[in-house]
Amino acid sequence: NADIKESMYLVSEFAKNYFHNTLLHSEEGKAIGLSYFKERGFTNETIQKFGLGYSPEAWDAFTKEALGKGYKLEFLESTGLTIPKEDKPFDRFKGRVMFPIHSMSGRVLGFGGRILTNDKKAAKYLNSPESEIYHKTKVLYGIYQAKQAIAKLNNCYLVEGYTDVIQFHQAGIENVVASSGTALTPDQIRLINRLTKNITVLFDGDAAGLRASIRGIDLILEEGMNVKVCAFPDGEDPDSFAKKTSYDDLIAYLENNAKDFIQFKASLLIKEAQNDPIKKADLIRDMVQSISKIPDRIQREIYIQECSRIMDISEQVLMSTLAQLVQKDI
Ligand code: CTP
Ligand code: MN
Ligand code: MN
Ligand code: MN
Ligand code: MN
Repeated sequence: NADIKESMYLVSEFAKNYFHNTLLHSEEGKAIGLSYFKERGFTNETIQKFGLGYSPEAWDAFTKEALGKGYKLEFLESTGLTIPKEDKPFDRFKGRVMFPIHSMSGRVLGFGGRILTNDKKAAKYLNSPESEIYHKTKVLYGIYQAKQAIAKLNNCYLVEGYTDVIQFHQAGIENVVASSGTALTPDQIRLINRLTKNITVLFDGDAAGLRASIRGIDLILEEGMNVKVCAFPDGEDPDSFAKKTSYDDLIAYLENNAKDFIQFKASLLIKEAQNDPIKKADLIRDMVQSISKIPDRIQREIYIQECSRIMDISEQVLMSTLAQLVQKDI
């Protein structure tokens, strides 16, 4: 089993280098892949740092090359890089720009591949399938490139996508990782917990991003970590926003708009339910529900006080609601 995994890591490392060299040195890679990355504003340094690549359009270009170099079909298939088909196994990734996904220690676990168009009908990203070495609920894109900065700055920005991570690095912010489209999981949060207790959630400025932020808050609190949320303007994501903002303005935006989770939830009320007592009650219950996830009792009380102040409701009512919720958990 350890041998199998080792072979899968080696195949994945080979694939990363193959896609990277194809991007930089083949005619097709330069014309299609490299120009795509340049259009998105990625520099050569960024392309190196993240090992970005390109998978050729030919149906078996990668598989043929790997077999020729002596890599076994078994491991090409178990990593999902090659799709089995009688005597004609073929490449999973064709005509896509490639984002290798690394472990905390820098091993290549899998890939995300993006189509080059904005065709709404086609799946934008194709990812490696689950395998012995790639568990999508247990990895965070960018953790390898971010770990030192996260520990040093004692904070981690959590974004949705590959390009959000990359654009932030390019803007000079390196303490950033992506959940890569999966709903955030406890395993992912624990990975960050090894480096810092502080997470700032920066999800896309759309309905899906908002929903994901709200779900993420409770999970992070449950791990005993501190969570802030910074919303982006409608239709923007961290990539698009960082791309058109200077470093100073980006930092200022993050500092001015990162809200404590209680304040973030309160701001939703102002948007949605200002004059609706029922909605206000629902939201207060929801805040107390989040507070009940916090393992530390003193912290819970401090948040109850804050909630009471912001929502203008008595601490007593909040405390008794909290007591019921915490009771249920025990
Ligand atoms: N994702 C995925 N499969 C899809 C769509 C999205 O795996 N079909 C994941 C990717 O990791 C992606 C993340 O979810 O980076 C966020 O999705 P989205 O916001 O739609 O994509 P962006 O990262 O903004 O991608 P881009 O800027 O390239 O359009
Ligand atoms: Mn290189
Ligand atoms: Mn999105
Ligand atoms: Mn996005
Ligand atoms: Mn985007």
